Amino acid sequence: MNIVLLGGPGAGKGTQAQKLVEEFGFAHISTGDLLRAAIKEGSKLGKKAKGYMDAGQLVPDDLVIDLVKERLEADDAQGGFILDGFPRNTAQAVALDSELSIMERTLDAALLVSVDPDVIVKRLSSRRTCRSCGYTAPAGTETCPRCGGEMYQRDDDKPETIQHRLDVYATQTAPLVEYYKGHSILKEVDGDRPVDNVYADVKALLNL
Ligand code: AP5
Repeated sequence: MNIVLLGGPGAGKGTQAQKLVEEFGFAHISTGDLLRAAIKEGSKLGKKAKGYMDAGQLVPDDLVIDLVKERLEADDAQGGFILDGFPRNTAQAVALDSELSIMERTLDAALLVSVDPDVIVKRLSSRRTCRSCGYTAPAGTETCPRCGGEMYQRDDDKPETIQHRLDVYATQTAPLVEYYKGHSILKEVDGDRPVDNVYADVKALLNL
């Protein structure tokens, strides 16, 4: 199954993706995680992306599209993938359609995780992320429950940047809801409920 996860920053895309990966073994392709890994490595891509990410802006399309193309071609993505954080605008959605068409693959669903912006601000301010594997958990979690790595607060989870990310989502990413409605693959789940309740609905919507 090939899925795109849509939703504002902090809506719970990564959390739901982690659960789907654990249960069904799909490849988790998170552009945010890939970019943070590039920054950690100090690669050319990481150096180019860092300023945009710290400011809560989108990284230029060409950098992200190349990253995703490479990842879609990897062996572990052949049995199904979850794209988390990509596409982020119409140009990326069109590039994805064209790449999938070349690969003779299709998207099965675009799943929108809906959460009110006020809830998002609270969630992101208290989120901690694993430096090693990207696992996310609420503040107070000092060691990653998955790999034992150190948990830290992302630079873009500071209050001033969260509001900017919400604005970027509203202007650039939210139009993709209509885009995928037009492709008849949009599904929507209320993400403002306990994680396991959201996950039960996610599976039902995806017929898993
Ligand atoms: P990215 O890493 O993709 O960030 P994001 O989309 O802003 O999403 P988040 O990871 O912040 O949130 P999430 O929805 O995954 O929520 P999570 O599950 O962690 O992107 C970061 C930056 O990279 C961008 O700003 C941009 O600069 C760049 N970038 C990335 N992709 C790009 C692209 N395609 N093009 C250009 N630039 C790109 O949950 C959040 C918190 O809430 C956690 O603490 C979690 O434990 C908690 N939580 C989750 N679900 C629930 C629930 N149901 N109830 C209570 N708490 C919950």
